[in-house]
Amino acid sequence: MAAGTDLHAYGELTAACTRCRLAEGRTQVVFGSGDPDADLMFVGEAPGFHEDKQGVPFVGQAGKLLERLLEGIGLGRSDVYIANVLKCRPPGNRDPQPDEIEACEPHLFRQIELIEPRVVATLGNFATKLLSGRPLGITRVHGQEQEITLGARNVLLYPIYHPAAALYTPAMLKVLESDFARIPALLTGATPAAPASAAPVFEPVPEPSPAAPAVQLGLF
Ligand code: URA
Repeated sequence: MAAGTDLHAYGELTAACTRCRLAEGRTQVVFGSGDPDADLMFVGEAPGFHEDKQGVPFVGQAGKLLERLLEGIGLGRSDVYIANVLKCRPPGNRDPQPDEIEACEPHLFRQIELIEPRVVATLGNFATKLLSGRPLGITRVHGQEQEITLGARNVLLYPIYHPAAALYTPAMLKVLESDFARIPALLTGATPAAPASAAPVFEPVPEPSPAAPAVQLGLF
C-alpha cells in the first residue's frame, strides 16, 4: 500500500514534467497503470495517439492484444503494472530519441523502485536495450530471462516482442504466446529453460537489417 501512495505521488509530480521536448506536443503525461504492488511489470515503448488522449498506456490495438495475451495466462490488467520507456507521445509515433530516453529514464527507474516487481517484461527493443544495458535486439533475446540489478534490487528481466509486432506480422503471435506462457513459472521462481530455438543472450549477434515495416518501427 505504501508503494501505491508513493507511486501516486510520484505520478502527480511527473504530470508536470518538462525534461524533454515531448512536453510541448503531448496532451498529457502517460505515467503508467495497474497494481502498484504488482509482481509483474510490463515496459513498452511510448504512448501512441489513444494513450496520449486517454492518459493510460496500451489502450489502442497493441493494448488489446496485450490484454488477450494476459488473459491467456490467467491475468488481467489490474494484476500487473504497465508503463513505457517514454511517458509522453513522440510526434507521429516516431521512435524515441536517445536524449528523450535519457531524460525520461529516471521516471521509469523510480517506478520500478517503488513497485518492486519480481519480473519486468520488456516489450520490444527500446525497453529491452534500456533495462538490460546491452545493445542486443529483441529478436535475439526474447523469451530469455536474465537476473539483473536495478538500483538496490534484483529483478528478473524478461524480454518479449512488442505486441504491435504481431499486428504487422501475424506469425509473431505464436512466438508472443509461447513467451507469455513462461511468465507464470517465472513469477513463482520455477524457471524452466527457454525454448531451445532461442539464441543465448550473451552471444553478440548483429541486428537484422531493416527490411519490414515492423523492423523500421523498432519492434524487432
Ligand atoms: N505502444 C507502447 O509501447 N506503449 C503504449 O502505451 C502503447 C503502444
